[in-house]
Amino acid sequence: MNFLIGPAIIGIVAGVVDARKKAHRPMKTPPLARFPALRLRRPRQAAWSRRLFSETRLSASDLIQAVILKDGKNIREPIAAMPGMFRLSPDEAVGAAREAHDLGIPALALFPYTDADARTPDGEEALNPDNLMCRAARAIKDAVPEIGLMADIALDPYTDHGHDGLLRDGEIVNDETVDILVKQAVIMAKAGYDIVAPSDMMDGRVGAIRAGLDGEGFQNVQIMAYAAKYASAFYGPYREAIGSAGVLRGDKRTYQMDPANSDEALREVALDLAEGADSVMVKPGLAYLDIIWRVKSEFGAPTFAFQVSGEYAMIKAAAGHDWIDGERAMMESLLAFKRAGANGVITYFATDAAKVLRADG
Ligand code: PBG
Repeated sequence: MNFLIGPAIIGIVAGVVDARKKAHRPMKTPPLARFPALRLRRPRQAAWSRRLFSETRLSASDLIQAVILKDGKNIREPIAAMPGMFRLSPDEAVGAAREAHDLGIPALALFPYTDADARTPDGEEALNPDNLMCRAARAIKDAVPEIGLMADIALDPYTDHGHDGLLRDGEIVNDETVDILVKQAVIMAKAGYDIVAPSDMMDGRVGAIRAGLDGEGFQNVQIMAYAAKYASAFYGPYREAIGSAGVLRGDKRTYQMDPANSDEALREVALDLAEGADSVMVKPGLAYLDIIWRVKSEFGAPTFAFQVSGEYAMIKAAAGHDWIDGERAMMESLLAFKRAGANGVITYFATDAAKVLRADG
């Protein structure tokens, strides 16, 4: 009997611990049979069975396509560090929106490229109601009104120092930046964005943006908080894509999180949810699957992963050398986010992945 009671007690203790941590899909009991009665390879033998036993599904509905904008017309400018990605003028972005929508992708996340000479110390272009982001949103909403649009809220595409906030005497100042971000969020809502996504990591910005949006009658505009955003090397290609690579002075470690920290991510998420975030994001993605798992387990809130530019670049670069199967690596990485507990993924691969999903039926 002892050999049964032992595992039972372990099972109960583990169950209590799991319940306290609210881990999703906890293993309730240890496997009862043993080899050779138990053969975990048995269900893997046929394709029908592998499908039946599959625990996680990826669908086009889980994906948000990241789009890089550039001013002009008929522009599709290759981004060197992101093979297969292009800077798109608003008219081309309309085409991308239509294609994404036809593939069942619910939303796009837009980011603007800005020339170095159009940038200023305080990034005033962020508050121009006719800036590239606003014009692109209006064009897309005219042509494809059903698609959701998400705007990044931060100043880095517009500042001449490449930081997400205002730089005063060598410091990124918090509260003064938040005041501008609120204005930026309202301008994005007016242009037609459905989700504003503060990516700046200033303290207190989610609550301030919520109040600012509500004050202007935008109660239904959502906030997706870049809640746990790390100071990461994986943003490199993005900075080239939006024209920040050459201009960024120093690094972002006084506002983005230390990659060593995990408890702190939960505090960031708790704070953003308490301030009214509708959903939270963990960024980057693949190196932070444990954070996604903890965030989802702890809060059960809508949780998104951002598969960032460097993750895209790594897969594309290796695939370009025939060192990995790019399509399989793309699908496997996206599935991993869902398995870790993410509700969805912001990714440069969304359209490509949706095509694969469609072909696979
Ligand atoms: C900046 C911002 C960044 C990304 C999205 N918003 C870069 C940064 O913080 O320097 C990264 C996206 C990517 O790498 O794909 N507010």
